[in-house]
Amino acid sequence: MRRIHPLPDLLISQIAAGEVVERPASVLKELIENSLDAGATQLDIQLEEGGVRLIRVADNGAGIAPDDLPLALARHATSKIASLADLECVASYGFRGEALASIAAVARVTITSRTADTPHAWRIETTGMTPQPAALAAGTVIAVADLYFNTPARRKFLKTTATEFAHCDDVVVRMAQVRPDVAFTLAHDGQVKRRLATTDFSRRTRELLGEPLIAHARPIAAEAGPLRLTGYAALPAYAKTTRAEPYFYVNGRYVRDKLLVHAARQAYADVLHGAHHPAYVLFLELDPATVDVNVHPAKTEVRFRDARGVHQFIFLVLQRALAKPLAAARPEITTVPPAPTFSAPVQTRFTVREPAASAYIDFARQACSEPAPANADTPLGYALGQLHGIYILAQNAQGLVLVDMHAAHERILYERLKATTAARPATQPLLVPVLFEASASELACVEDHAVTMEALGFEIASTGPQQLAVRAVPALLAGGDLAALARALLADLAGQPASHVLETRRNELLATLACHGAVRANRSLSLPEMNALLRQMEATERADQCNHGRPTWTQLSLAELDKLFMRGK
Ligand SMILES: Nc1ncnc2c1ncn2[C@@H]1O[C@H](COP(=O)(O)OP(=O)(O)OP(=O)(O)O)[C@@H](O)[C@H]1O
Ligand SMILES: [Mg+2]
Repeated sequence: MRRIHPLPDLLISQIAAGEVVERPASVLKELIENSLDAGATQLDIQLEEGGVRLIRVADNGAGIAPDDLPLALARHATSKIASLADLECVASYGFRGEALASIAAVARVTITSRTADTPHAWRIETTGMTPQPAALAAGTVIAVADLYFNTPARRKFLKTTATEFAHCDDVVVRMAQVRPDVAFTLAHDGQVKRRLATTDFSRRTRELLGEPLIAHARPIAAEAGPLRLTGYAALPAYAKTTRAEPYFYVNGRYVRDKLLVHAARQAYADVLHGAHHPAYVLFLELDPATVDVNVHPAKTEVRFRDARGVHQFIFLVLQRALAKPLAAARPEITTVPPAPTFSAPVQTRFTVREPAASAYIDFARQACSEPAPANADTPLGYALGQLHGIYILAQNAQGLVLVDMHAAHERILYERLKATTAARPATQPLLVPVLFEASASELACVEDHAVTMEALGFEIASTGPQQLAVRAVPALLAGGDLAALARALLADLAGQPASHVLETRRNELLATLACHGAVRANRSLSLPEMNALLRQMEATERADQCNHGRPTWTQLSLAELDKLFMRGK
């Protein structure tokens, strides 16, 4: 039997280091944070072999006094906090006094630094060593070479050079994003990969994440009591095409916090579902005393004193920004980000008019045929005709409006379904049941999910060993291809646990129904029907994107049309 014995110090530090020093990118993150904490405004980063061979960060910050140099590498030695009280309202990135010690346990670290009041720089390589004079104009250079040279087992877990470099680059992007006032250069194996001059937030975001994101984003600027949220939230149409990372910062710290991600996801849930990821850059600011960053060694998770309040705030701000109905959303595209828009208590202030209560599948019943001039109440104008059974052409004050009629109708239906099934869906029994041939798994699904289907307003029963009958459907959907609708619902339910599917996937199910219930291409609509659809769009939240995040309509202004024909030239 083996004896229990204390671990050697080096091993202890390597185990602890394992959490912070996961890969080159985690070293780089710690070094950049230290430079920023030292007040640097210029960071030059050099990497070799994905950072495994070398990570070198040179900054123009305050530097380290020669006497303090040995302490910089010592565990639990920090200049950033002195007491628990400091920790509770910490505003610097660092506070553990552990990062450099952890890194020094698994790599060869050299620190060269010069403060403003020393005649030359000093250099140190190990904790025990006396600092040696060195040459450096100002600031600090920290070089971390041969990562995991003494722990080959860890080195085996490293990925290719390209992958490790990509992770390092991600770190630079995350840090640069939140500090546009700092200039960064990043070089890899002698090649400059990024050169970022000091600028402002919106330019830095454009530079790092690209113009398309900003072009498809709603600017966010909201305040509620002590909470402030700024940044950009990309519209679903953008998420559809890219796999942009969501960026969330709390008091300048990049975090991957479950609570925050959840709040944002929920806000996007209505306009973006399935496998798409929302894209946003959000900066949450609040009193540091109300948020604990000492939760996770890499400080990527935080704990809020008022978790519910924070969740609610983020959810409401984003939901509101994403849901802006057409009438409110249009002018904003041309204006600058709005100033902080509300103060506590947070309230949603939708300007949606209550849609007329009539069956939505049948536009004609709600026809508004008066060819009134387009005005502020009818931003989408009035229909001129239909193009190839797919698009509605309409005229408004600005010029021409093009509507994807299926996408638009789908969105309207979805919002209506959500509103009605929340209580009890209006079910329409069918005089003549719709029969269709069904597979064994469809038959089984009908049995498993009887309760769910009833709650959604369906009545489907088997009428033979290979046959199903649709006996009732939600009233909103009564006009469509009911066999296809039932099949789509069953396909969506198949493989789902029967018990909680309604709670967990209600909106996805409704989206499926909306998609199948919406007018299909090639159905010709009368002008009154088209106008009714336009009016419904105006009255529907989130009407400018369909459930799949595609835009439902677009505007071609007279000026744009003139340009096409070179009028006025
Ligand atoms: N680039 C730098 N410029 C000036 N001082 C630095 C720099 N890097 C490190 N230091 C000094 O070395 C100390 C130790 O750094 P280290 O990263 O190990 O700990 P920390 O930043 O205090 O806390 P944490 O472990 O949370 O990062 C810091 O407190 C700081 O005083
Ligand atoms: Mg640090």
